[in-house]
Amino acid sequence: FNTVMFAQKTADISTISEKTLSSILEKNRTYYTKGKVADYIPELGNMDAKAIAFSVVEKNGKVFNVGDVQKKFTMQSISKIIALMIAVSEKGETNVFDKMGYFGTDQPFNHFSNLETTGKPLNPMMNAGAILTTSLISGDGEKPFLKILDMVRYITKNQTLDYSTSVYESEKSTGHRNRGMFYLMKNNGLISGNEDQLDNYFRQCSIELTAEDLAKIGYFFANECVRFDGDSKYKNAEMSRLIQSQMLIAGMYEFSGEYARTVGLPSKSGVGGGITVSVPGKMGIGVFSPALDQHGNSAAGYHMILDLVKQYDLSLF
Ligand code: DON
Repeated sequence: FNTVMFAQKTADISTISEKTLSSILEKNRTYYTKGKVADYIPELGNMDAKAIAFSVVEKNGKVFNVGDVQKKFTMQSISKIIALMIAVSEKGETNVFDKMGYFGTDQPFNHFSNLETTGKPLNPMMNAGAILTTSLISGDGEKPFLKILDMVRYITKNQTLDYSTSVYESEKSTGHRNRGMFYLMKNNGLISGNEDQLDNYFRQCSIELTAEDLAKIGYFFANECVRFDGDSKYKNAEMSRLIQSQMLIAGMYEFSGEYARTVGLPSKSGVGGGITVSVPGKMGIGVFSPALDQHGNSAAGYHMILDLVKQYDLSLF
C-alpha cells in the first residue's frame, strides 16, 4: 500500500465548509498538468484545461461551492446512471439486466469485444451497455432523451439545463465506434429501433451542467432518490442501491477496483471532466477538471475527492 494511506480522519463531516473545500482545491489545482483534455470528440478539445470546481451537498441539503462554480461542461458518461434509472423504472430490473451484465470490468469505457462472445454488454456503465439502456426507454424520436433531460432538471432543480448542440453534433459525426456497437447489438437482437436511439445517447452525453449539479445528482442516489431539498417524489431505496452498486463496480471503468480501495464510494465519471460521488445516506460530491488520466477520469477531480474522503473519513470501508 504505497500509493494511498488509509483514511485518517482529521475532522468531522459537520465542519465541511467552503474554506476546507478551497484548501483541497488549491492543493490539487495543478493536477491538470498530469492529464489530457479529451479530444476524440473534437468539440471537447476546446475546453479550458485549467478550469476547476468542487461542490458538496451535505446531508441537510446545504450546498458548498468553490472554484469555477459557474462553469458548465457536458455530463457525458454520468448521464448513464440517469438513463439506467429511467429504463429500470419503466421496464423493471430483470428485463434490463436480461440484456446486459452486472459485471465489473478490466476494460476501458469503449470496450465491446464481449458483444462477440457472450453477445451482451458487460454492464450499463460502459458505452455498449449505456447505448442499449437508452434504447430501452420508451418513446419515439427524441422522447427518451427528453425524459433523461427532464430527470436531470428535476434532480438538480434546475429547469434551465439543456444540451450542447455543438458537442452533440461533434460526437454524432465522429462516434463511429459507438455506431458500430449500436449495430452489433441490433444484429444480436438486443436493439430493435433505428439510429434515433443512438442519437438520444449522444444527446444525453451532451447535457451541460455544473459541479454543483453533479453534487446534487450524487446526493440523490446517496439518499434513496430523495432530492437535496427533501422532495421525495421518486423515493426508491432499491433503485439507489442498484445505481450505486453499478457506480461502485464500474463507474470509473477499469480503475474502479483501485478507486474502491482508495476512495471507497460509488462514483461516476465522464470524459467532460466531471465526477459525481455518492456518500451513502449522507451527501453528494461533484468535481470538475477537464484533463483526464489514462482511464478517462478527471485527474484533479480524483485527487480532490481522495483528499476530502481522507480528511473526513468518508470511505465505506
Ligand atoms: O460515448 C462516448 O464516448 C462519450 N459520449 C462518453 C464517454 C465517457 O464519458 C467515458 N467516461 N469517462
